[in-house]
Amino acid sequence: MAQSLETASGPRPKGSAKETAYWVTPLITAVILGLWVLYSLWEVFFHNTGTYQNYISPYFSPGVGDWFGWHVLDALYVAWVPFLFRFSCYYYRKEYYRGFFWDPPACYQVDRPRPRYSGETKWPLAINNLHRYFWFLAVIVLIFLWKDAVEAFFFKNGFGVGIGSLILLINAVLLTFYTFSCHAFRHMVGGGKDCYSCHGKPSTSYKLWNKVSQWNVFHGAWAWASLASVWAADLYIRLLIMGVIHDVRLF
Ligand code: FES
Repeated sequence: MAQSLETASGPRPKGSAKETAYWVTPLITAVILGLWVLYSLWEVFFHNTGTYQNYISPYFSPGVGDWFGWHVLDALYVAWVPFLFRFSCYYYRKEYYRGFFWDPPACYQVDRPRPRYSGETKWPLAINNLHRYFWFLAVIVLIFLWKDAVEAFFFKNGFGVGIGSLILLINAVLLTFYTFSCHAFRHMVGGGKDCYSCHGKPSTSYKLWNKVSQWNVFHGAWAWASLASVWAADLYIRLLIMGVIHDVRLF
């Protein structure tokens, strides 16, 4: 307990707002991410289809199982891409290191002593170094999700708008913001440079980097919003498939 009162700049006065509340955010993060992981495991390992009429769940798109006629745990062929993309995301790393590993739970909390820092040099965390490559795979999946969002407006009797159409559209929009506000993407469009002022006039790569930076500021917000929209889209379609709810057509 005495350790929790220590900060990087010295002891924090007892009763200060930060001292009493530092654990709230990591705890909420752990609960939400934990529930999402459990839900995802249930969805991926206990269902073979995510399609209801013209709606397809983001967990099952693209329909690789349909392409090859493999219908065992269909979501598994695809779900690993967004999972690894999120797992290796710089923003989520901060969140789950704090929420699950409590290592440390917040910026001003003293880290627990360890013999030697190995960071992300060892399995399984070393996989986080592949984030830039997962970004390309995530873009491919995103293209299919946009196709699904458009098709969600075309019913058997023609164009229409259902609650499911809107959920899938919002999901594609939020995932686009999340994907293109990525730190690795910003580094790529910026030409991988570490110093722009060293190269004289502002270059095209600097302008692109600057543009993506405006989205990147809100990367954490896009991360949570898109997680919620993927979850909502899948849950809505799952409940339709199970017959628990009926789709509402707005017109
Ligand atoms: S840093 Fe979060 S998606 Fe790339």
